[in-house]
Amino acid sequence: MRNREDDNGAQTIMTVSNVSSTPPSLWWRSGAIYQIYPRSFQDSDGDGVGDLEGIIARLDYVADLGVDAIWISPVFPSPMADFGYDVSDYVAIDPMFGSLATFDRVVSEAHRRGLKVILDYVPNHTSDRHPWFIESRSSRDNPKRDWYVWRDAKPDGAAPTNWVSEFGGGAWSWDAPTAQFYYHAFLREQPDLNWRNPEVVAAMHDVLRFWLARGVDGFRVDAVHHLIEDADLTDDPPNPLWREGMAPARRFLRLHSMDRPEVHDAIAGMRAVVDEYGGDRLLIGEAYLPLDRLVLYYGGDLKGFHLPFNFHLITTPWNPTAITALVDAYEAKLPHGAWPNWVLGNHDRSRLASRIGDDQARVAAMLLLTLRGTPTLYQGDEIGMGDVPIPADRIQDPWEKNVPGLGLGRDPVRTPMQWDASDNAGFSSAEPWLPLSRDFAEVNVAAQSAAPGSILSLYRALLALRRAEPALSLGDYAPLIATEEVLAYERRFGPRRLLIVLNLTGRPARIEAPHSRVLLSTGSRRLGEEIAGTMAIAPNEGFIAEFAP
Ligand code: GLC
Ligand code: MG
Repeated sequence: MRNREDDNGAQTIMTVSNVSSTPPSLWWRSGAIYQIYPRSFQDSDGDGVGDLEGIIARLDYVADLGVDAIWISPVFPSPMADFGYDVSDYVAIDPMFGSLATFDRVVSEAHRRGLKVILDYVPNHTSDRHPWFIESRSSRDNPKRDWYVWRDAKPDGAAPTNWVSEFGGGAWSWDAPTAQFYYHAFLREQPDLNWRNPEVVAAMHDVLRFWLARGVDGFRVDAVHHLIEDADLTDDPPNPLWREGMAPARRFLRLHSMDRPEVHDAIAGMRAVVDEYGGDRLLIGEAYLPLDRLVLYYGGDLKGFHLPFNFHLITTPWNPTAITALVDAYEAKLPHGAWPNWVLGNHDRSRLASRIGDDQARVAAMLLLTLRGTPTLYQGDEIGMGDVPIPADRIQDPWEKNVPGLGLGRDPVRTPMQWDASDNAGFSSAEPWLPLSRDFAEVNVAAQSAAPGSILSLYRALLALRRAEPALSLGDYAPLIATEEVLAYERRFGPRRLLIVLNLTGRPARIEAPHSRVLLSTGSRRLGEEIAGTMAIAPNEGFIAEFAP
């Protein structure tokens, strides 16, 4: 990485992106994905919880935003121990959210607006109320016993391994009636399915087929790195970097309980099912892993995930050197022909605006929508929502309840979408299941739609420009500048060359800019302004410019 000042000219810039052979017509390469957390998007029936009718009512908003697909977090029947990520029936809709008929309307109404529909698929575990688990635990010789991960206690009565649950405590729970432990990577109410059992694989493939036949365009596969554990039940070694205050699950290096090589066969199996329904259905994987491990999830011959979620922007320090190094490392590690992707937030992670501040949230929007790769936006980030403090008596997240006080709880990032300044922010006619942010009278869709300088207007403009410019959606990437303050790079598609300049700090900065003309700015820079040579960059400023021909 070098400063533009060291360059002989923009022509010498090395292009590090993979040139891909896949035709650019695949919608998910050029498209942007918008995550809907349905409990908190829009309530239509006055129970304080969002639902499918609510999603339908807001599809015009989503389409106008300029994204290409919605990913809907789980809406299946669930006891809601983990708010839908504990599924008790994979092929139905929880009455709280609607019905299969309503779901079909979500799909047709989305499609009518040119939006694809991605569903959450939770293969690692079911709810403990799923009929499969009820059967499985009913006796040791039940035909479904082996559908879950059952093991004897050690001779001294202890759990089979030292494996820990993501949500605190041991990952094995004792079932007294059948005198065995069952394994759960998450809550005890979320027993892990046994993906070594071919009947489980077949049943879970049928779940994919059920939704594909209803017209969904793909899946986001939940917690997939947890799918298979070491068959020999080896203990995980302690993590030497663990400190008091870190999540209990990180006490161990989960070499034997996570990210096992066998997972890739299971993913290839899911992919084969998705491919049965045509070549443009999308399979996304959720795995929080280092880049080296993550890129393996594209699979051999790219027959794994089309997009293993890349969460590294969420955790990388917010400065030009770290981010340019991350992009370079990711681009370099991508398998040949694999398509990149970037994520800045989701329903599990502290909100962008709270992590880096309101001013930088605008710059981050420009980064997310100009890097090479499919961007995923989390609902509410486009209006700059922050983490909402949750009073003790309103806590919902089981993680916060199990491991209190460490800030692990995810309620603050799941509060209702702020639509307008009316009661309950236009989200519901009733008290919402989680408290609203106190700032909703100002931070809301209606107010920001009317304000050309708002972050929502910026997102809309960025998404529109991304659509209009193949250089942004499909073009090659080349790093240009990384100073203490400024990150700059080029996107190029054929002869079209765009310059992206981002001040990742609140300090003024200077760069040497190539001769170009401003197309879009996060701040007050005049559109059409010609720039060249030494120029001042305002604090928290980002802009996109076209290279002069
Ligand atoms: C994924 C989901 C998270 C859920 C967990 C268990 O990480 O994003 O919300 O709690 O899996 O299903
Ligand atoms: Mg409702």
